[in-house]
Amino acid sequence: MSLWGGGRFEDDPADALWRFTVDREDKRLLAYDVRGSIAHVGMLGSVGILTGDEATALIRGLETILGEAQAGTFAWEESDEDVHSAVERRLGEIAGAVAGKLHTGRSRNDQVALDMRLFMVDAIGHLSDGIRSFVGVLVEAARRVGDAVVPSYTHVQQAQAVPLAHHLLAYAWMLKRDFERFADAGVRADVSPLGAGASGGSSLPLDPDASAARLSMASSFDNSMDAVGSRDVSAEFVWCAAQTMTTLSRLAEDIVLWASHEFGWVTLSDAFTTGSSAMPHKKNADIAELVRGKAASVAGDLVAALALQKGLPLTYNRDLQEMKRAVFHASDSLGGALEALSGMVAAASFDPPAPSPNVTALDLAEVLVARGVPFREAHHAVGQLVAALARDGRDLGSVTEGELVDAHERFEPGDGAVIDPVASVSRRVTKGGGSFTSVATQIADLEAWLG
Ligand code: ARG
Repeated sequence: MSLWGGGRFEDDPADALWRFTVDREDKRLLAYDVRGSIAHVGMLGSVGILTGDEATALIRGLETILGEAQAGTFAWEESDEDVHSAVERRLGEIAGAVAGKLHTGRSRNDQVALDMRLFMVDAIGHLSDGIRSFVGVLVEAARRVGDAVVPSYTHVQQAQAVPLAHHLLAYAWMLKRDFERFADAGVRADVSPLGAGASGGSSLPLDPDASAARLSMASSFDNSMDAVGSRDVSAEFVWCAAQTMTTLSRLAEDIVLWASHEFGWVTLSDAFTTGSSAMPHKKNADIAELVRGKAASVAGDLVAALALQKGLPLTYNRDLQEMKRAVFHASDSLGGALEALSGMVAAASFDPPAPSPNVTALDLAEVLVARGVPFREAHHAVGQLVAALARDGRDLGSVTEGELVDAHERFEPGDGAVIDPVASVSRRVTKGGGSFTSVATQIADLEAWLG
């Protein structure tokens, strides 16, 4: 049964119309839809549009439906066009004719906009918890790896020596920003569209602020057309999820590399790896690979969320029904990725090999700079030294005092002590740089943030 048949329509809907237009994705909005209806009916009662008895009867019926939703016993029918129709149909079964007053001063347009906002406010809560606890896992891992030193990479070429903890904490800061983006999106999601009606409001004395307050939402809409026709908040939610998935996909790629025989930085736990059906020796980082893969499909959700709005005339158009798929898929993908990848990192043991001494080349150049040599000249001298050693199959680790002094007149005996990745890290003084002191500060700051 549709909510619109019978009056304007003489003929029944074609099967093809029904099959193509009914919404099956929105079943998960059931509890939000009922909560919205309870708030709406409460408001209708308080402004006198419904009598006290009517409001009570409707709310009692809706509370029964909410119980069914929470218990998972709500009985859907093939003939329900969408969640809103299903609730009104069920309310009629429970409360009788008074159910016909539920839709007073309301449209499915403000209703679905509300349901999605309530869904997103909740999802932002869960996803933010997941991101925050992943930051905790990374901080814990940074503590666990202690003073292990690795090369940083640029262009996937070894760059400077850094604590492995510094590398892990880079992701903690990225995820903290992802968390903050969700919090910011949550502020804009927390606005009730109830009372906007079909698009222009109502001749009935509705009180949108009262509906919002009954839902514990921060405020209500300022423009009814904006309230029912806009989906920027949904797109923002999907963007936050897409960016977080993108952050996770970069960590995932690092883990895939680190777990390879060639890197050998990390041993992944059996519980978080998969085997090969053919090759008995294999242990694969499938979680990390799937995070990369799912990041691609969530990026696709973002494209869909933008494309759905692009060029769409105000206000509500049925296209917008498709926004749910993007929001739900992005939310589910991120929730799953956070759980699996943080489990993988929490159970991983890190034991990276020592980096090549060549990662101290910049430190060596900075020794000359500290003595007043122009950086470009120091860069050139050390570069020539590295090239000369490489021609003999050597690296900076084997340079003699004589070779060093020959490389530039301002080098002094003893400067070779710099050519040690751990010494390199210890000499680093920049705020936020790859030093043990900076790592300690970062851990303290992140732990303070985690509370
Ligand atoms: N299932 C619809 C959606 O998700 C509900 C709103 C329908 N509104 C309408 N005017 N047909 O968008």
